[in-house]
Amino acid sequence: MNADLLVVGSGVAGCSAALAADDAGADVTLVTKATAPDDATSYWAQGGIAVSRGDPDAFREDVLAAGDGACDPAAVDTLVAAADDAVREVLIDRLGVPFDGDDEFDFGREAAHSENRILHVDAATGAAVLPRFLSHLRTETSVDVVEDTAALDLVTHEGRVHGALLESGGDVEPCVAGATLLATGGIGAAYGRTTNPPGATGDGVAMAALAGADVADMEYVQFHPTACVVDSEGANPAGDRPGTGDGEVPFLVSEAVRGEGAVLRDGDGERFMPDRHPDADLAPRDVVARAVRERREATGEVRLDVSGVAFAAEFPGLAERCREHGVDPDEGIPVAPAQHFLCGGIDVDRDGRASLDRLFAAGECARTGVHGANRLASTSLLEGLVFGRRAGRAAAGFDPEPVETPDLRDSDPALPERFAAEKFHRLRSTMSEHVGIERTPDGLRKAGAGLRRLKGEVDAYTRTRTARELYELRNATVCGLLVARAAAENDTSRGCHHLAAESHAD
Ligand code: SIN
Repeated sequence: MNADLLVVGSGVAGCSAALAADDAGADVTLVTKATAPDDATSYWAQGGIAVSRGDPDAFREDVLAAGDGACDPAAVDTLVAAADDAVREVLIDRLGVPFDGDDEFDFGREAAHSENRILHVDAATGAAVLPRFLSHLRTETSVDVVEDTAALDLVTHEGRVHGALLESGGDVEPCVAGATLLATGGIGAAYGRTTNPPGATGDGVAMAALAGADVADMEYVQFHPTACVVDSEGANPAGDRPGTGDGEVPFLVSEAVRGEGAVLRDGDGERFMPDRHPDADLAPRDVVARAVRERREATGEVRLDVSGVAFAAEFPGLAERCREHGVDPDEGIPVAPAQHFLCGGIDVDRDGRASLDRLFAAGECARTGVHGANRLASTSLLEGLVFGRRAGRAAAGFDPEPVETPDLRDSDPALPERFAAEKFHRLRSTMSEHVGIERTPDGLRKAGAGLRRLKGEVDAYTRTRTARELYELRNATVCGLLVARAAAENDTSRGCHHLAAESHAD
């Protein structure tokens, strides 16, 4: 297989990059492990997509404040300046996304936003955007969308990336490409409780790092404070969707619900956020997540009290999910923090260029610098859209070159039963215990040692086998190691990297 541009990943960033490169005349192949739109994290984005509404300065200040002093201001300027046009030109004019509102848009509000600026479709914005995007690529462009196909490793020669080795149905073949753009999403599968779908195994970050590309800000892993937690009796031990938690099935309860007036109460029925932060329940995500963690430990549970919100009318999708999982919102929704978003990733410039020649990245797997130490709500779809577009344009002008590719045809595509499940369990326990919401130097040292051992055990298999789940395990383990290492090297608590006297998972 050959392409001018190989895009890996079918979330909003990958779709946006593929569309922009196709517009620029490139021959684009987009490969994805997904077999359905809801395999990508973008599909699960609830709150929406923030825009500047003609006040880019206020938007910029909110992004910078959430990032806690660690954002790249030039990247933030780029995001904010491009936001309204990108949303209008791509999502509204080309895809026809029906954002809520009658004559005027109904702009929502989430934590740490100083004004209502979030376009949304119910609280299921990703589900309204992504299927339209994929269908547009298939029917209105020349992009070749190839499903159920995983990238195992990048093909590199003398510091230049020439595509990737792809696995599909057990067969492994190279795709030689003029440029390669990674848009593989986050690393939730490395954690015990996450809002990400199971395929969020950090493939792009791990492949890029193993090929020698720079990564940055890996210690900044965001936990969402309000994942609904319910017992998963009988659920797949690897985790029901969208989360991958062992033992509990989390689904995200959007911050937009607190934006409409819902409040958190501990196991004694008391509100606790007003004492913690002037913005109370709409304080920055890391502050709320740590408070929820602490009150759950002290009082047994935390519930989201939605009695002040017309919950079923305002959030019909979430009301339906509660019903499906036997949760009665009138009793308060039981919530816990869950791993949600990687703020760091493959270090890229404002056109998505990584440190290796002809390697690009966009979306959650990329570190553009817009999120700093903590991401502002409803900026992830926007980042994928804006920087995906820029990266797609920048990556569009390269022809594939002849290169020798590794021959893995004789590798064994099988894996001993339970191998991946058991090692994933070990990975998640280590990450949740020591590299979670609150960390200690000692815990990070233990995690580093345990993860290095695990990586060694996994590497012994990747030498001879090409099972997709083995590579997913390797990738999630590499990402775990990168997070643990970056966290151990950073002794300043900031945003989502919080050092405490004792480590706490959630
Ligand atoms: C939410 O709806 O609370 C999540 C939005 C986001 O993570 O940006």
